[in-house]
Amino acid sequence: MTKESLLEAVIEFCKLHKMAESTFGRKSVNDGKFVARLRTGARVTPETWDKVNNFMIKNGNNLLNENSKNLHVLPNDTKSPEKKNNINEEDKSKKKNFRFFDNRQKYLLFVSTCSEKEVVSKRIGMELGHVRPKPPALRIFDAGMGDGTVLAGVMREMHHRFPTMPFYVSGKEISLEDVRICLSKMSDRLFEHPASVLVFTNLFYSEAPWLKPKSMASSSSMVWKEVALQGSSSHEFSEQLNELRGFLDENWQAGHSPKTGNPIYERPTVLIIYRDDHKFLLNDVIPKQDIKKADYDLVLASQPYRLRVSSEIKSRNVLLPLVRSLGNGGRLIGIHSSGEDPAHEILKEIWPNDNPFESDRHSLLKAVKNELGSDSRYYNIKSNSDNRSIFKYDMHSLPSELEASIGTSTLFAAWNAATYVGQIDEQRLEETMKSVDYLAITQKILKKYGGLWFNDESYTISKKNF
Ligand SMILES: C[S@@+](CC[C@H](N)C(=O)[O-])C[C@H]1O[C@@H](n2cnc3c(N)ncnc32)[C@H](O)[C@@H]1O
Repeated sequence: MTKESLLEAVIEFCKLHKMAESTFGRKSVNDGKFVARLRTGARVTPETWDKVNNFMIKNGNNLLNENSKNLHVLPNDTKSPEKKNNINEEDKSKKKNFRFFDNRQKYLLFVSTCSEKEVVSKRIGMELGHVRPKPPALRIFDAGMGDGTVLAGVMREMHHRFPTMPFYVSGKEISLEDVRICLSKMSDRLFEHPASVLVFTNLFYSEAPWLKPKSMASSSSMVWKEVALQGSSSHEFSEQLNELRGFLDENWQAGHSPKTGNPIYERPTVLIIYRDDHKFLLNDVIPKQDIKKADYDLVLASQPYRLRVSSEIKSRNVLLPLVRSLGNGGRLIGIHSSGEDPAHEILKEIWPNDNPFESDRHSLLKAVKNELGSDSRYYNIKSNSDNRSIFKYDMHSLPSELEASIGTSTLFAAWNAATYVGQIDEQRLEETMKSVDYLAITQKILKKYGGLWFNDESYTISKKNF
C-alpha cells in the first residue's frame, strides 16, 4: 500500500461519508491537517497508518474500496499482477526514499550503549580553549543536533569555562523526535546558565545558520516562535518545554525530496527559547526575524553526513555553508567515524569489499579548499596529525561480562553499534542476518579485543582574525 493509495482511500472514504477531510484527520489521528499533509507527500509513521486504518474499518469497512481493505493484508497477498506492480512501485519508492538515519532505534541504542557522544562533547570542549567570544554573547551552532546529547555536553563545557557569559546556542535538526528529546535536556541547562538563548530550526544547511530560507515562498511562510519561560526552577522550565509538543507536531513535519530522497521540511520553522527573567539582559542576543546574521564562535559538525557520500558533496552541501557562517576568529570542528578498529573488523569479515570509511579528513579538507577557491586564504584548514586528530571511544560493558560467556544482549548491542557506525543500510542488514552467523563473528571479535572500541577523526577550520 503506497501513500498515494492511502490518500485515495481516505478521499473516497470522506466522499462516501460526507465527512470533511479536516474532520477525518481530527477524528482518526487528532490532526485536522493530516489529509492536507498526506497530499503534500508527508511521511506517515506506522502508528499513524494503523490509526487511520482502524478508524476506516471501524466506521464503515463495507464502504471501503479494494485497496483500503487490503491495508493489512497487502504484504502477503501478492498474487494479482496489479498488486505485484503496486509492491514493486512501493519498493522502488522506499529504496529511493531510504535514508540511513531514519532508523531511530539503532541511533538511540547506539547513543546509550557507547561512550561516543560523551567523548565527542569533551573533544569539542577542548576547542573552547581557542575561542575568543565578543559581546554580546558566545555564539555556537550545532549542525545537526540529533538527540542533543552532544549539545547538552558541550553546553556543560561552555558553562564550566565561561560561567557568566551570555550564550547564543543555535541548532539545526529536521527530526521531530530528536528535537523533542533534545528539548527535554534543556531545562537543566537553562537552570544552570540563565543567560542563554536557545534557537532550534529545521532549515537546510545553507539556510539554518542565518535563520533564513533561500526561497521567497519559504521565507514568507516561515513559522517564527519565541517562548519566554516563566519561573526559575528546572521543573517549571521542563513543564513548559513539554507543552511545546503540540507546536512541534504541527510545525516540525518532514517529507522526502522526490528527487534525492533527502528529508525536507514541510514548513520552515524557528523556535527561540529563553528565560523571561533574563529577557532584558538578553535583548541584543535574541535573534530578530528581519536581521540575517551568522558569525559563530564555534560550529559543531559531529557526524553530520553519510560516510559514503563523496568528499566533494560533503564539502559543498554541508561544510561550505558552515564555514561561511563563522565569525572572525570562529572555529568549526568536524568529527566523523574513521574505522580501523574492532568494530570495523566485524564489518570486514562480513562485507570484505565494502569500506564505509573510505573518504577521510584529508580528502574532505582538500575538497573544502577547492570549493573555497581564493577565499581559502581567510581560513586555517587543519587536518592535524593522526595523533591529534584520531580519538577512541568504546561500548560500555561490565568488567566481568567479557571474561566468561558474553550475554546475548551485549552481543546484539555490539552488532548494532558496529553496523550503525558503518552505516549499513537496512536491506543489506536484513539479507545478511538471514544467512550469516553474525553474532558468532561479533563474539569472536569481542573476545579477541576484550571489548569493542571505535575510532573517530576530527578536523578544524578556523577563520582568521581581521
Ligand atoms: C544528525 S546526525 C548527528 C547528530 C549529533 N550531532 C550526534 O553526533 O549525535 C545523526 C546521524 O549521524 C549519523 N551518525 C551519528 N553517530 C554516528 C557514528 N558514530 N558513526 C556513524 N554515523 C553516525 C547517523 O546517520 C545519524 O542518524
